[in-house]
Amino acid sequence: MTVFLEAVDLITQNIAEACACLKAGGLVAIPTETVYGLGADASNPVALKKVFQVKKRPTTHPLIVHIASINQLSEWALDINDDALHLAKTFWPGPLTLVLKKQQHVLDLVTGGQQTIALRIPRHTETLKLLTLFAGGLAAPSANEFTHLSPTTADAVSDELGHSIDLIFDGGSCELGLESTIIDLSRGRPILLRPGMITLEEIAATLNTPVATMSETKIRVPGQHALHYAPRTKTTLIHANEWPSFIENKKNENTKRHAIAFLTYETPRAIPDCVDVVMMPSESKAYAHKLYHTLRECDQQDYQEIIILNVPHTSPWAAIRDRLQKASFCAKIPA
Ligand code: TXA
Ligand code: MG
Repeated sequence: MTVFLEAVDLITQNIAEACACLKAGGLVAIPTETVYGLGADASNPVALKKVFQVKKRPTTHPLIVHIASINQLSEWALDINDDALHLAKTFWPGPLTLVLKKQQHVLDLVTGGQQTIALRIPRHTETLKLLTLFAGGLAAPSANEFTHLSPTTADAVSDELGHSIDLIFDGGSCELGLESTIIDLSRGRPILLRPGMITLEEIAATLNTPVATMSETKIRVPGQHALHYAPRTKTTLIHANEWPSFIENKKNENTKRHAIAFLTYETPRAIPDCVDVVMMPSESKAYAHKLYHTLRECDQQDYQEIIILNVPHTSPWAAIRDRLQKASFCAKIPA
């Protein structure tokens, strides 16, 4: 009974309650159009330390600060160049994070000790109201344990971190379901640090200039890990032409019935008993919206392994491809 009451107390839709909790240094999970964030007052070192403890995240990994209006940019960032203003005006509120030089007052806990800060205005009506009422910056990493899947519903936040945070501000299921595109504008030319549903091509077209990728520039930034966004179940990415040999191997290994979940957007041929097919949408936006939720469900069903059919090598799928690669980092494609 106590557990039930605690769960009810944890979830709210009351903006004033969420704001008061944040002002008091509490941790409040907030919905955004991408994924749920674990919100904390970006000016409060005690609250920020709790974010790292709760997520079990290294303190060198910087946080994104969420604001309500472009007018607040200069409170947090320096050298706000024309590119930054143009991207902000075009895509905010929306799934784009800009990395800029930081104002001197910004805490090392936010920036991981770097001279830059990541900022965004999320596109979620209730969270924008909360940010406006809060009238400050909210540091909000995704509301999951370090390296695990980002949550896209209030229930998923509750499963991930419910025991260790103060409140979950319930804003329904996240519209997009994948984390924001991150563009670094602090190094003279725009660099894509993390692909998202706003594509590299859209950014380049908006700025009328090429956008470099991390691999092209060889820059290193904290918070980019090879294993990330991962289910707890072993996850392997396969290409369509590897499916027949994969099936053969599993037959030879005598894998037990329903041991494997296979996420695919194409109807597979010859499905052995050991495989449960999980059909995914064949359109990238719908696929992204479903991905983390589906992986979470697979995690809860005790599969030995999750196999995912790799997605197309086209621009609208770039963010999904990136997350699938990171989710399956430790697992080798079967021979
Ligand atoms: O969609 C999103 O961006 C979500 C929602 C909640 O806004 N947030 C999110 O936060 O994905 P998080 O902490 O899981 O990922 C933020 C990433 C860090 O891992 C780091 O790579 C990058 O942002 N980052 C933050 N500050 C940075 C900085 N100053 N320089 C370079 N990268 C930075
Ligand atoms: Mg994250």
